[in-house]
Amino acid sequence: MLGLLSLIITLLILPAVNALVRDSDVGKLPALGWNSWNAFECDIDHIKIMIAANQIINLGLKDVGYQYVNIDDCWSVKNARNASNNRIIPDPHKFPGGISGVADKVHALGLKIGIYSSSGETTCAEYPASLRYEMVDAQAFADWGIDYLKYDDCGVPPEWKDEYTGCVPDSDEDPASWNFPNGTCPGLINAAPEGYDWTTSKTHQRYIRMREALLSVNRTILYSLCDMGHANVNTWGNTTGNSWRITNDIRPEWGRIAEIANQNVFLLDYVNFWGRPDPDMLEVGNGNLTLEENRAHFALWAAMKSPLLIGTALDSIDDEHVAILKNKYLLAFHQDPVIGRPAHPYKWGYNPDWTFDPAHPAEYWSGTSSTLEATLVLMLNSEDANSTRTAVWSEIPELKNYNSYEVIDAWTGNNLGCVQGQYSITLQSHDVAVLVVRKGQC
Ligand code: GAL
Repeated sequence: MLGLLSLIITLLILPAVNALVRDSDVGKLPALGWNSWNAFECDIDHIKIMIAANQIINLGLKDVGYQYVNIDDCWSVKNARNASNNRIIPDPHKFPGGISGVADKVHALGLKIGIYSSSGETTCAEYPASLRYEMVDAQAFADWGIDYLKYDDCGVPPEWKDEYTGCVPDSDEDPASWNFPNGTCPGLINAAPEGYDWTTSKTHQRYIRMREALLSVNRTILYSLCDMGHANVNTWGNTTGNSWRITNDIRPEWGRIAEIANQNVFLLDYVNFWGRPDPDMLEVGNGNLTLEENRAHFALWAAMKSPLLIGTALDSIDDEHVAILKNKYLLAFHQDPVIGRPAHPYKWGYNPDWTFDPAHPAEYWSGTSSTLEATLVLMLNSEDANSTRTAVWSEIPELKNYNSYEVIDAWTGNNLGCVQGQYSITLQSHDVAVLVVRKGQC
């Protein structure tokens, strides 16, 4: 019995095999922070970055764990590197004090700073990128005080492109080819032969070059891969970086959020300490998402233990959206220091289990939280109208042993007392119920 217990504890504590383990637990848990892209795209400068940093403090986001302030694309001079040391040149108009100037100020607030480059010759917005300059750039980032690198897959010259194409569901225009994850991609041009080892791909080699450069500098820089699912990154992301993007870009539209959530559901076995698929940065506060859609997006991303990078302007965000981002139960689940595994669907609900449906991802989720000493239960209404969802304790692996549990509604914080057998709630379209369920005194 004791042997079994210690085996279980060891399995819970050990990182996934061959994960990228870094000093000071950097990258062990999914990142919490902010990134400039979804809010501002290329229209960035030191003022906007410092507004975000200061607002992370003022809004109490730092107090609940948000720490990274990440500068995305378009931070440099466009068509040149420094002639004497080959470094990328920070745009002197956008960043008059250089990147190191902003980094110092961000660090002075007790926060960390991130930057962006690509594994090609140019970034997606056609600024200089790091292929063949990996060492130069990693050293510059380290000297500037960078703590996080998002590394994209744009600007790749022909000789560094892959021979084969992998299956990325959302990059195929023909939805008929979407029988991911179990089948093939019939519409795929130049598909890899059966059993192809994607660690031999050029994409993997390009990402490894930057990993080696980052590991060689005297600063711990979290390595976040952004290859949008290319080259079957799920098979090597965990040994290369601490997170890896699985799709093309998110947009502030429910249909896109549901589509990405549906894809990530099939990748949850890759999520653990030190490594996780990245379903892209948050759109909370952006576009015309309803409040329900905002909180469903946040709850799903937190339950999947995805990086949570806020992507909205923090000087104009309203209190309701800040409250979503600060939900203490979801953040406690997300940042669990003992359990690395995410929540999993215990039932699809709208669809039969394991259905790949971009409009209706799995609706019923559960996961254990050591911090909350509870099971987190999510119920999503993926339909376009109000609908009722019921959590039946006997259907939930973590809860099936008893009939009565204490339930807290994570959105209101209300303790609903001992609930016998099941809990039903009518949800608005695209809303999610989040329950903290424990034995308590029941
Ligand atoms: C995309 C990436 C976005 C953003 C953008 C910058 O490839 O997915 O998140 O970084 O490039 O140009």
